[in-house]
Amino acid sequence: MRKFLYVITVIAGIFCMVGATAENASSGSVPLGLPPVPYPEDNPQSPEKVALGEKLFNDMRFSSTGDVNCAKCHLAEKAFTDSPLSVSEGINKLTGTRNSPTVINAVYFESLFWDGRSPSLEDQALHPFTNPVEMGLKDHLPILEIVRTAPEYVKAFKSVFGKSGNDITMTEVTRAIAAFERTQIAGDSPFDRWYYAGEEDALTPAQKRGFDLFVNQGRCVSCHLIEQTQALFTDNRFHNIGVGINDIQDDVPGLASEFLKAEATASEVDVKVLTDKRTSELGRFAITRSFDGLGAFKTPTLRNIDVTAPYMHDGSLATLWEVVMHYNLGGVTNEGEPVNDFLSGGIRPLNLTADQVDDLVAFMEALTSPEYAHLAKSDIKK
Ligand code: HEC
Ligand code: HEC
Repeated sequence: MRKFLYVITVIAGIFCMVGATAENASSGSVPLGLPPVPYPEDNPQSPEKVALGEKLFNDMRFSSTGDVNCAKCHLAEKAFTDSPLSVSEGINKLTGTRNSPTVINAVYFESLFWDGRSPSLEDQALHPFTNPVEMGLKDHLPILEIVRTAPEYVKAFKSVFGKSGNDITMTEVTRAIAAFERTQIAGDSPFDRWYYAGEEDALTPAQKRGFDLFVNQGRCVSCHLIEQTQALFTDNRFHNIGVGINDIQDDVPGLASEFLKAEATASEVDVKVLTDKRTSELGRFAITRSFDGLGAFKTPTLRNIDVTAPYMHDGSLATLWEVVMHYNLGGVTNEGEPVNDFLSGGIRPLNLTADQVDDLVAFMEALTSPEYAHLAKSDIKK
């Protein structure tokens, strides 16, 4: 079966390569296991724009206290997260409600943030600057003042966008940041070399057993997708898998109706979900205001998952072993009580033995790209 997939992969790969050279000569090839990088028409990639974006991503001056940049919570050396924090720390050590997701491979997601409230990397990059628990600015003017006057920025904005002075707006700032983020892709993990390149020895026997559990008994693949030519390990959809909402379950009717009455604007929602723990747990509901979104969060990628602990939208699970045990219990408490009323139908007890839990953990540890392999640590219990 896998050999067959491999042949399809190679054939499809050749087509992709032809497509890539014709349409997007500058994009180069992608690492094994990843689809081509989508570039928006109004924000073409260039090395100079990427370099400018990287500078903006790392600039501390764009925060009210002068000591928080995007990298504070998405640090390259920590696989673009703030591991091991469970929830992020912004200005004045204020904490938010959510765990910092990695920026690696975020270019592939159909929506951003745990609740999907942002449609693009360009839009997403506007939000942290003015969030009161992140970078804390009142508005974007201090940023514009700096990029319109600081010599290193004046030159770069002129040559990348052909703009200077008041013509530089947050559109250019966020386009440059997004261009930088689009270069942060990582595949080529041991799993990719085994599954897509047919390298039999790339995985250990335990990791291969773990793959089988991931696809069959564990049913993980139904949400964390693996496709014929590439795998992003997400369906880009939202599910309630029984994390966090359990704590506020009894308050949900009150919280939800309070939220609906408030008629919050998009930017108020942004602030509210990151500053109010209970509102945060409403999940996708806060965006769609549809009850099937209650406690639902975006399926995250599992690439490089071993190096981005802790886990889940609230960082409440410390290890991959704990994550697998969460699924193994299938959303019921130790006493066998259902943990919440809104649980996804895909979450049911899995009856995995301790050895099988280890194997699933071992499989997830095979999803680390070579660039981040030095951060790896094993959660296997045996
Ligand atoms: C104080 C910590 C902090 C800072 C500063 C910060 N982020 Fe984040 N970032 C987070 C957290 C926490 C989330 C998840 C929030 C949510 O889902 O509601 C996030 C989400 C994201 C996502 C979405 C990833 C995904 O998988 O959906 C991207 C992209 C991102 N941040 C980029 C940036 C950029 C660009 C900046 C600077 C302009 C920045 N972040 C500043 C903590 C931070
Ligand atoms: C019904 C869809 C669904 C199924 C089935 C599923 N997941 Fe998930 N997974 C999710 C969602 C949604 C989240 C984020 C939930 C949250 O934060 O509240 C998640 C989170 C995770 C995380 C944490 C990721 C991070 O960045 O913090 C890991 C690890 C994980 N899942 C592994 C698995 C494994 C292993 C299985 C099979 C035993 C599995 N998942 C089955 C939807 C699913």
